[in-house]
Amino acid sequence: MLQSGEWAYTEKLKEHFESPKNILQGTDTSAFDGVGMEGNLQCGDQMMVAIKVDKEKEVISDCKWKTYGCASAIASTSILSEMVKGMTLDQAFDISPKEVAKELGGLPENKIHCSVLGDKALRAAINDYFIRNGMNDRVKKVQARTVCQCMNVTDHDIEEAVLEGARTFYELQEHTKISTVCGMCKEDAESELQKYVHLHFGA
Ligand code: FES
Repeated sequence: MLQSGEWAYTEKLKEHFESPKNILQGTDTSAFDGVGMEGNLQCGDQMMVAIKVDKEKEVISDCKWKTYGCASAIASTSILSEMVKGMTLDQAFDISPKEVAKELGGLPENKIHCSVLGDKALRAAINDYFIRNGMNDRVKKVQARTVCQCMNVTDHDIEEAVLEGARTFYELQEHTKISTVCGMCKEDAESELQKYVHLHFGA
């Protein structure tokens, strides 16, 4: 991770931002085997990832993408689209945002959020492929689990809160209102918090 005061973006990131690889031209995705969308236009970040799959080997043969996101989202999805070609669907599904950031030579902490967009859209595209091919049982991997029944907070909400800056239980509560009713979910919430802080920030 870069230290504050250092130039925020590495050469590799700048290279992928200035000449992004595998951009989807136009809007026609009919030639692809799976398409995933992530993000929302309200906060300005939206990502589409489209994949072609060698069905026999379950290997990604092509990956294209399009975003309205920032430099970090562009560079990280560009490098991600290179990384996944030749990978099996399971391998690609398991790529973590941390691995993508590492491949870029590091990302400023407040930009990790942007890099997660491409990763999530890729998973959505892989799931789309599974659904199109009647393998609904393999989609389960990304279904959200409700951690707090009272406030209807899922593990995905906790991950979002961590990416938005929550590091302590108190901060998580501020973001999500988790564990503010019966309190039964506190232990589970704390362990999910630690899990995502570790996953994204290595702490
Ligand atoms: S289950 Fe979370 S407050 Fe009740």
